[in-house]
Amino acid sequence: MKHVLVTGGAGFIGSHVVRRLVTNYPDYHIVNLDKLTYAGNLANLKDVELNDNYTFVRGDIVDGAFVQELFAKYDFTYVVHLAAESHVDRSISNPIEFVMTNVVGTVNLLNAAKHHWQGKYEGRRFYHVSTDEVYGSLGDTGLFTEETRYDPHSPYSASKASSDHFVRAYHDTYQLPVVLSNCSNNYGSHHFPEKLIPLAIHNIVNRRPIPVYGTGENVRDWLWVEDHARAIDVILHKGSIGQTYNIGGHNEWKNIDLIRLLCSLLDKKLHRKEGESASLITFVKDRAGHDMRYAIDASKLKNELGWIPSVTFEEGLEKTVDWYLANHDWLQNVTSGDYMHYYEQQYVKR
Ligand code: NAD
Ligand code: TYD
Repeated sequence: MKHVLVTGGAGFIGSHVVRRLVTNYPDYHIVNLDKLTYAGNLANLKDVELNDNYTFVRGDIVDGAFVQELFAKYDFTYVVHLAAESHVDRSISNPIEFVMTNVVGTVNLLNAAKHHWQGKYEGRRFYHVSTDEVYGSLGDTGLFTEETRYDPHSPYSASKASSDHFVRAYHDTYQLPVVLSNCSNNYGSHHFPEKLIPLAIHNIVNRRPIPVYGTGENVRDWLWVEDHARAIDVILHKGSIGQTYNIGGHNEWKNIDLIRLLCSLLDKKLHRKEGESASLITFVKDRAGHDMRYAIDASKLKNELGWIPSVTFEEGLEKTVDWYLANHDWLQNVTSGDYMHYYEQQYVKR
C-alpha cells in the first residue's frame, strides 16, 4: 500500500482531491494533513471520512518538527501539497500568515521529503499545487504559458511564487523529484463563500448586495474544481519530474458578466422575475493592486498528458448553483461558524 500525503485536504480543492484519490485508488492510504484554519472544513469529506484507506491528521505545516515526525511515521510515496492561505484580500490585510504557511510551510515539507527519502527517489513524487496568479496580470491579449516570467502583485501571489521557486530549487539542488502545476480560478461545490462565485450565490439567495470590485471589468479564467482534481491526478501519475503544467479552462469571463449570468440563472432557479437578482449588484471600492486579466494556455497538459476539461462552463456553473441550493445547511454552517465545531464533535469525542 502506498502512503500518500495530501496537505490542505479539508479545503476547497483539497477535499475534491482527497475524495478522488480515496475513491479511485483503494490501494493508496491517503493521509490528509490540515490545520483546519477558517478555510478547512471536515464536513467537506463526510462521505469518505470512514473509509479504511483514509486518515485525517490535524497539524500545521509551519511546525517543522511535527512535519518531520509525520514523514517518519508514514513512508510517503507521494506528497500532494495544497495547504495554503489562499485568499488575496486576506493577504492584503495580513501578509505574514501567507509567508508562514505558503513559504515556510512548503520549505518544511520539502525538507522532510529530502530528509526521509534520503536520495532514494525511485517512484517518489513531491507535487506542488500552485496558481496562475504568480504570472501577474495580462493585457487584453495573450495567455500565460509555463515560460511566462513570474510577476506577482499581491502578497498571496508573491508567497505562492516564492514557494514555487523553493520547490524548483530543491529539484535543481538536491534532485528532489518534484512536479508543479499552476491553475486558473476554480469554482464548484464546497467553496468558502469569501471567493467571488460562492459569495455571489450566497448573497443572491439571501437578497444581499453582491459586491463587485471597481468596474467589474477584470477577467478571470474559470475551471470546474473537479476538472482541476482530475488534472492533479493525471499530473501526479504521468507528469515528468521537474516539469510544470499550466491548468486552465479556456473560459475567460469579465467579473460583471459572470455575476449577471449567475443572477439570471438564479432568477430562474428561485422563480424570481428576470432582473430581480441583478438589482443586488453593488459596485464597491477596487481591491488594491487588482490584477486585470488572467488566462491560461493549457496546451502542454493537453498535448503531453491528454487532459482537457470535461464540462462546459454552462454545465459546471449549473451543477455548482444546484449544489449550493441543495446544500443550504453547508452554507449556513460555514457562514455561522458552526462548521468549526465539526472537528471536536467528530474526532475528539469518538
Ligand atoms: P482553501 O483556502 O480552500 O484551503 C486551504 C486548506 O489549507 C484549508 O483546509 C486550510 O485549513 C489548510 N491550511 C492552511 N494553512 C495551513 C497550515 N499552516 N498547515 C496545514 N494546513 C493548512 O484553498 P483552495 O482554494 O482549496 O486552494 C488549495 C491550493 O490550490 C492552494 O495552494 C492554492 O494556492 C491553490 N490554487 C487555488 C486556486 C483557486 O481558485 N482556489 C487556483 C489555483 C491554485
Ligand atoms: P476571488 O474569488 O477572490 O479570486 P482571485 O482574486 O484569486 O482571482 O476574486 C475573483 C475576482 O472577483 C477578482 O477579480 C476579484 C473579484 N471580486 C469581486 O469583484 N467581488 C468580491 O466580493 C470578490 C470576493 C472578488
